[in-house]
Amino acid sequence: MKKILCPVFTLLVILAATAQGNNYVQDYTKYPDLAMTPPMGWNSWNKFACNVDEDMIKQMADAMVSSGMKDAGYTYINIDDCWHGDRDEKGFLSPDPKRFPNGMKAVADYVHSKGLKLGIYSDAGSQTCGGRPGSRGYEFQDALTYASWGIDYLKYDWCNTEGLKAEGAYKTMTAALKRAGRPIVLSICEWGNDEPWKWGQNVGHLWRTTGDIYNCFDCIKDHGSWKAFGVMQILDKQEGLRRYAGPGHWNDPDMLEVGNGALTAGEDRAHFTMWAMLAAPLIAGNDLRSMTKETIEVLTNKEVIAINQDKLGIQGFKVSAEDGLEIWAKPLQGGDWAIAFLNRNTTAKKIDFNWATQKVYDNVNTLDAAFGTTTYKIKNLWDKKDKGTATTKKAFKAEVPAHDIITLRLSKTK
Ligand code: GLA
Repeated sequence: MKKILCPVFTLLVILAATAQGNNYVQDYTKYPDLAMTPPMGWNSWNKFACNVDEDMIKQMADAMVSSGMKDAGYTYINIDDCWHGDRDEKGFLSPDPKRFPNGMKAVADYVHSKGLKLGIYSDAGSQTCGGRPGSRGYEFQDALTYASWGIDYLKYDWCNTEGLKAEGAYKTMTAALKRAGRPIVLSICEWGNDEPWKWGQNVGHLWRTTGDIYNCFDCIKDHGSWKAFGVMQILDKQEGLRRYAGPGHWNDPDMLEVGNGALTAGEDRAHFTMWAMLAAPLIAGNDLRSMTKETIEVLTNKEVIAINQDKLGIQGFKVSAEDGLEIWAKPLQGGDWAIAFLNRNTTAKKIDFNWATQKVYDNVNTLDAAFGTTTYKIKNLWDKKDKGTATTKKAFKAEVPAHDIITLRLSKTK
């Protein structure tokens, strides 16, 4: 008996080892356990477009620390398009030697020395949107290069992708990153064209849901062959997507325009709060080296950030919309809720929110705020004042200025 079992056992061991060791079997699933709350960081594109270089990136890392943003939870310094130089004769890519004279690893080392992480940008097509080398046909080689530089986050764009299908193209890059062996967040940036929320959950950690954001509160910028969207237009395009978001896989309504000058203080607050309510990535897009006190206050409001970073990872929803006043809710851990009153009008709007009659119910997660029977303490997260208790006897009355927001955290009392 022993004589028969032994060779069979040996054969099984060999077969199992070969199966695991096949180097032609790809793993098309993203790196696990990354971005378990929405990623927070900074990206160069909204403010600087193609003007990126080593000094500026290092200064942004310094500013992220000195401004208090790092303490507030921001981690990623992401270099967007145009960092690229050429490929060598073997296809290996280097950064532009004029912009990054010490190479990308030196930048990563610097960013890491500040306790931060470095992100980079590429494209699934032959060229990036800015006409730099794309990764099509070089996916595994580029992923190895990024890993060797110490990259932590890849935004992967969708220009010049003639004939490619999005899901397959993104799966190729996710397999390449997996094979490279470094935990790198994959940010899918195909603008929502092919409904990435339907296939992206195991492929990437976040996916853009729309075209590019434009630096205005309520407008559309027509570039001819494509359009860019203001904060309110992007917000409206999130309809119906919340059930696809959760820890490790987020809807991405694009990077923030907070502090970029076109929005008023109230609009900056409303934009930031709504991205927090949407459980969206909080990727600042302004010059961190020269922020006003107001911009820092918005970007580092820890209680609003806590709504965004809540461990449940539930994307908020619109409770009602009437005459340009929208009420939004987001369930939080411990039975708490965030409630936001967004005024889209150009004039102030009064609110009279009756806790007894207002139904706030999350039908995706079957969670009921049950204001009639549950008692909550109320805190206003922008004026930072306690506003008593949500009881059936007293309505919440306030005035929301034009293009502004009132944001409450309701904490369940024991
Ligand atoms: C696309 C993306 C932007 C930015 C640019 C860079 O438009 O959607 O976020 O990365 O390309 O060229």
